[in-house]
Amino acid sequence: MSEANTVPPPRAGTELLAVERLSVSYSGGSIIALEGVDLTVHEGEIVALLGVNGAGKTTLLRAISGLLGMHGGTLKGGSISYGGRDITGAPSWKRVGAGISISLEGRRIFADLSVADNLRAGGYTRPRAQAARTMNEVYDLFPVLRKKRELAAGLLSGGEQQMLAVGRALMQGPRLLLLDEPSLGLAPLIVAQIMQMVTRINERGCSVLLIEQNVSTALPVADYAYVLESRRVAHHGPAAELMADGRLRELYLGSAGEPATVPREKVLP
Ligand SMILES: Nc1ncnc2c1ncn2[C@@H]1O[C@H](COP(=O)(O)OP(=O)(O)OP(=O)(O)O)[C@@H](O)[C@H]1O
Ligand SMILES: [Mg+2]
Repeated sequence: MSEANTVPPPRAGTELLAVERLSVSYSGGSIIALEGVDLTVHEGEIVALLGVNGAGKTTLLRAISGLLGMHGGTLKGGSISYGGRDITGAPSWKRVGAGISISLEGRRIFADLSVADNLRAGGYTRPRAQAARTMNEVYDLFPVLRKKRELAAGLLSGGEQQMLAVGRALMQGPRLLLLDEPSLGLAPLIVAQIMQMVTRINERGCSVLLIEQNVSTALPVADYAYVLESRRVAHHGPAAELMADGRLRELYLGSAGEPATVPREKVLP
């Protein structure tokens, strides 16, 4: 494990996303949400982004997906590159086109539209045949969505709605999927299912940046992890190393001694 601002250990794969010295504020500069944050996601990785309420996790995803302005946030410094290109000032639609998709906190599905129409809405910018193929893949990943495809999305259970939100992000055909607390408010069994889906999505070649508050949920499926604390990266390292560090769990995440929500052997190959 590395302290902030030290060189991380070597990681497999080439660098896909690189956030460097990123600082973000809200409310005309009166709230500093991120200060000098460095984070990378390599091709093929699942990277967990951990931290307590208000640490700045969602803000970082907004910055990566180009949605900061929409929430009254301002980039105060730093840069973001993706696939070797600087995307710091790029509009969000360009980032989506380049392969960055986000599934937002709190699900945000269209409750009155059917499951199928929610998915179609996710893939509307892509050629119809491609979108239809991806829709089939999403149904293979989440069979319950295929079964309920004609049902209004508002009638799905909480876990199913979360699957739909992830499925909708997948409809854009991402190379990098940003997930903001997909397990929030769900029962442990459903959380385990969602985490298994995350590993399957990853096995299909999509890199994932996964926000989680629960260390026991995210670390078992992640390759690498960052802990955000009070606007900065407090720790980062291979997920297995962070998981082994009971003191870190206790100090930063308040979950020492809790049983893992997702048993490691059930998720990892
Ligand atoms: N739209 C906004 N306007 C003003 N301040 C904001 C806004 N969004 C977030 N903040 C502030 O920025 C800081 C970081 O918030 P952020 O939502 O990124 O944290 P988080 O780690 O995602 O928290 P949570 O786990 O509760 O979702 C907090 O102090 C929060 O109050
Ligand atoms: Mg958040």
